[in-house]
Amino acid sequence: MARLWFCLLLEFCSMLDTINGYYNERRSQCLYSSRDLNDMVYIDSYIFNKVEYIWFNSTVGKFQGYTRHGIYNAERFNNDTALLQRERADVDTCRHNARNRYSCIIDKTVEPQVMVKSVKQSHGSQPAVLMCSAYNFYPKFIKVTWMRNGKEIEGGQTSTEEMADGDWYYQTHSHLEYMPESGEQISCVVEHASFKQPMEYKWDPSAPAPERSKIAIGASGLVLGIVLSAAGFIYYKKKATGRILVPT
Ligand SMILES: *[C@@H]1O[C@H](CO)[C@@H](O)[C@H](O)[C@H]1NC(C)=O
Ligand SMILES: *[C@@H]1O[C@H](CO)[C@@H](O)[C@H](O)[C@H]1NC(C)=O
Repeated sequence: MARLWFCLLLEFCSMLDTINGYYNERRSQCLYSSRDLNDMVYIDSYIFNKVEYIWFNSTVGKFQGYTRHGIYNAERFNNDTALLQRERADVDTCRHNARNRYSCIIDKTVEPQVMVKSVKQSHGSQPAVLMCSAYNFYPKFIKVTWMRNGKEIEGGQTSTEEMADGDWYYQTHSHLEYMPESGEQISCVVEHASFKQPMEYKWDPSAPAPERSKIAIGASGLVLGIVLSAAGFIYYKKKATGRILVPT
């Protein structure tokens, strides 16, 4: 898969004079679009009230000035060999930081936890619905397909988009609508950057439906709660009516 990486790293250094409305800004950018970082360019800009007056481009290798003040100071900066050397070395810092970002964030992968379960059982001519859920994976790109007896199923599938959990991880859910046949093997196939090969998760029809038992437990809890609070209320009422007020 060919992917185009484009990153723009900004570091701001700003000075604001709120009384007179002056705004001085220094902006450093590391620009690159290739994975090997060979096209890295470092841009260092000096900006006053939105006007860029000094500009360093690592490909050019020296400061360039715009406006009279900018031209004068760019020449002054270029006369300072130590400063120029430091500025030229910053493109290597860009590469160093970008490599760290690749290894610490972009290239990291986390395997999804995959579950296949029944959403609806088949009744007469009504199709059955299965759901294949993938949780807590990174990065976002994932492919979920279904197989019946080792062959990919065409149609009958709907997938949600990859949903961000808000903690760098994603989840996705794929539904399959199908007419069950005896002796068949249905499985969910997941392809993800964290896997060396597509992973197959078989649907086991003998597994208990956990949703139903959860609902049953919840319902019994609710009934028990109502009974106990009713008993408590009746007890309280009885006690309250039985109390005799004695004047002091
Ligand atoms: C930096 O300078 C090179 C050479 O002049 C130019 O091709 C490139 O577009 C400049 N980069 C930016 C971001 O302006
Ligand atoms: C930069 O150096 C040149 C040559 O030494 C000198 O003529 C010029 O005045 C210097 N410019 C500034 C702004 O310091």
